[in-house]
Order: sequence, then C-alpha cells, then structure tokens
Amino acid sequence: MEFSIKSGSPEKQRTACVVVGVFEPRKLSSAAEVVDAAASHYLSDILRRGDMEGKSGSSLLLHAVPGVEADRVLLIGLGKEREFREKGYRAALTTAVRQLNETGGFDGTIYLTELPVRKRDAAWRVRQAAMIAEEALYRFDRLKSKKDEVRRPLRKLTFCVSRRNELALAEQALAQGQAIATGVELAKDLGNLPGNICTPGHLADQARQLAKEHGLAVDVLDRADMEKLGMNTLLSVARGSHEPPKFIVLRYAGADVGIKPIVLVGKGITFDSGGISLKPGPEMDEMKYDMCGAASVLGTLKAAALMKLPLNVIGVIPSTENMPGGSATKPGDVITSMSGQTVEILNTDAEGRLILCDALTYVERFDPECVVDIATLTGACVIALGHVSSGLLANNDGIARELLDAGHEAHDRAWQLPLWDDYQEQLKSNFADMANIGGRPAGTITAACFLARFAEKLCWAHLDIAGTAWRSGKEKGATGRPVPLLSHFLIERARDRAKPGARRKAA
Ligand code: BES
Ligand code: MN
Ligand code: ZN
Repeated sequence: MEFSIKSGSPEKQRTACVVVGVFEPRKLSSAAEVVDAAASHYLSDILRRGDMEGKSGSSLLLHAVPGVEADRVLLIGLGKEREFREKGYRAALTTAVRQLNETGGFDGTIYLTELPVRKRDAAWRVRQAAMIAEEALYRFDRLKSKKDEVRRPLRKLTFCVSRRNELALAEQALAQGQAIATGVELAKDLGNLPGNICTPGHLADQARQLAKEHGLAVDVLDRADMEKLGMNTLLSVARGSHEPPKFIVLRYAGADVGIKPIVLVGKGITFDSGGISLKPGPEMDEMKYDMCGAASVLGTLKAAALMKLPLNVIGVIPSTENMPGGSATKPGDVITSMSGQTVEILNTDAEGRLILCDALTYVERFDPECVVDIATLTGACVIALGHVSSGLLANNDGIARELLDAGHEAHDRAWQLPLWDDYQEQLKSNFADMANIGGRPAGTITAACFLARFAEKLCWAHLDIAGTAWRSGKEKGATGRPVPLLSHFLIERARDRAKPGARRKAA
C-alpha cells in the first residue's frame, strides 16, 4: 500500500473516496460537517431519514454527492462520541479500509485520523492508521493455488490531519507505522508458514535475505558449531529431529561500534510435537507457530532497519524442531548447558527454555545494554492472560517499565508477573542443578525463573507470547505480535540516546 499525509478540506479532495465519521446517534464528525455544508445538507438528510445511525462497525457508501470533488463519500459509524476511545478508533479504521477495498476505487482519503482520541496525538493516530490498514488487508494465500482476487484493489491511502503544523510529525509517524507494519507482515508470514516449509534452515535463509536487503551482518551456526560451543541443552532438543538445527545471529549496526547493543532473542521451534513427552493430537498443527518469537525478532530488526534507528541491535535465534525419535532426549536425561549448569529433563515438551538458556549464555559475549527474549513459552500464560496481553518478567524494573510502556503505546500490551526467588524452589531436582519444569502452579513464572538462572549477568526481560502471537479458531493465523511493542521499545531507546537522560534510568 502507498500512503501519504495531507491537510485540507474534505469536499475538495480529488480522490475515489473521501472517508468521514458519524457518531451515534446521527451526529456528524467535524470533517463530515464540512462535507455536509458543501453538499447542501445531503449528509444530514440521510441521517435524518435514518439510513445511518452511526453505530460502531456500520458504514454507508454514497456516490456522486453534490458539491464534493471525490467520486464517493464513505460514512463510518463511530459509536457514541462520549465513549469514543482507542478501541473505537481502531475499529473505525478497520471498517473504513475493508470497505474501501470493496469499492472499485483505487485510492481513498481518510479523515478519521483527525478524530480526537483521548490521550493520543495526531502522530499516534497516523502511526496506528498505517498499521491498521495493512492489518485489515493482510492475506496469506501463497499456498493456495486459486487466490481470491479483489477486482480492483485499493492501492493508495491518504491520512488527513486537521492542522498544517501537525504535518511534519504525522509524516514521521507514518514512516514509523509503515516500517512496523512491514515487520509485522514478515512475522505473520513466517508464523503462518507450515513446519515443512518454515524449517530452521528457512529461518536462516530469511535472516540472510534480510541482511542482504538492509545491509545487516549475519552468522548462522550449525550443529557442529553449537557442539563446539557446548550448547548441549539446545542440541538436546534437536536430537529427535532429522531437520538440522540453526543458531542465527543477525546484527543491525545503526550506531557507533562503541555503543552497547540491545539483544533480542527469539524462540525458534519450527514445530513443537512435545518430543518424547508427546503432545495430544487436537490442535497440534498450531505448534508450527512455536517460532513466532524468532519471527518477531526478524520483523523487529526489519522495522529498525527501515526506520534507520541510531542503535545497535542484535537478533539471536536458536532454532530447531522438537520431535520424538530414536535418539531423542528422554525424560530423566541430565544435560550440561553451555553455562555449565546441569538440567534434568523431566518433560521434553518444556523445550523452549532449553534452547533459550544456551542462547542467553551465548549473548553474554556481546556485553549487551540489555537482552529481551521473546517466546511462545507456556500454555499457562494463555490461561493467565488469554489472548489480550503478553506475559512480561524481568530481572530489572527499568526495562520492565519500558516494555510495558512500549506495549501501551503500540496497542500491543504486556502485563508483568513476579519473578520472586520463592518460585525458584519449584525447579529443584534430586539429580541435577535444576529440573526443566516446576509443576502446574505458576507455570509461566517458573519457566521465567528457569531462564533467569542463565541471565544473572544480564539486564534481562522475557516476553511470553504464547497467547498473543496467533489466533485459533475461524480466524486462525499469526498476529505479528509483539513486533509493534518491540519496535516502540527501540524507538524510545533511540529517542533517549538522542536526548540523554530524557527519560530512562536503568536500575
Ligand atoms: N510451545 C509450548 C507452549 C505453548 C502451549 C504455547 C500451548 C501455546 C499454546 C511449550 O513448548 C510447551 O509445550 N510448554 C509446556 C510446558 C510444560 C511441559 C511445563 C506447556 O505449557 O504445557
Ligand atoms: Mn513444548
Ligand atoms: Zn514449545
């Protein structure tokens, strides 16, 4: 999609369609009022006749409106004005873009971006609009031999801001929104690809391609390299699979060499069968999404590169399948991790932490500013937070706060759970330094407690995205989360670097 920003009168736009809002019950938004005045009350007549109530989700397409340059006017219901918040704004834009795409026009000029949203400025509204537009039109049909073609698809969208002095910030916000949307799209595509196509090798190829397109540096370690490094917990997960494991390191250098990098570590299990502790059959197909942490790292690096953020960011992706097999790791096996700590594998289905712990040890070599790992780690997180919020745990309150704020700003929210030492007891093993599971209670926390033992030297946070990285049921598919959260986290870090001491003070 091609996007642009504009400030100007709605009745004067030469475009296939002008989009304005209507509040419930039958109240024109300010842009709609301007159209109405130019059209000798054509719109208010329609409202009076009861053809448009303004209910959220509703819309009405008008042709040849008198006094208006555009071919069409699309009215979008906004719900009650008093109750109009972020949710209503997002819904209105989704409806608008979907409807525009159904018309025969190839462009649209949207005035909804002028609507006041509580506590949000024009930059936020425009950034969200670009992301929502791409989200609304996303399709994954590359594996279908017959694609459902839209007759004349929407090609160009213009977002309007009410004041000319908002243009510059809106332009910057648009560029950010587009960059993040591109990252989200990459993450979704990779998440939606099945395990037979999106293998560890495929993820490595994707990383190489990203590196080529955006001038990043890439390193892919294979099994022999990992053996040399002593990444035995990672390799213990790969033992049951014929698909070769990969350890991917992708570096974006947007700042001087001396600037410490931010490291993102993404869980890259391209299929999680559970291993010898085999998962039950129903919905097992969804375990192709177990690499969504890895996908979000690639998506975020792409967004960072597109935004040319003045930061150094390193993406690290431990990747393998988790399969049963003749040489698969067995419950009871004890493995020595790269850190030297030993782990008793009581359940081979708790594999995410086993590949992440070696990755956390590995990234110490970068002397990072901070490390965030992203993983579809526990079913317990889906039970605790559902599909609305990602789980957040951290060994540093400063970084936790930053990630929570970034999630709020991006509408890609996270919620913090405690990482108290008291939970560590659940990981006690009679035969090794620790077990890889902590029993049923607080499963998300004990998983993070396990990782924390490998992050003691790091300023570290963990995002459990088991509930947020994809949708089940009729709308089954990857969401691209938490690319928006991570991108905003980086945007804020870049801002702080430009203005030192402005906001952040890592504890
Ligand atoms: N990839 C799963 C977590 C998961 C489960 C994500 C369901 C989304 C939906 C992870 O590897 C896993 O299997 N975790 C186990 C851990 C348990 C054995 C301690 C789980 O959550 O059941
Ligand atoms: Mn598992
Ligand atoms: Zn898993």
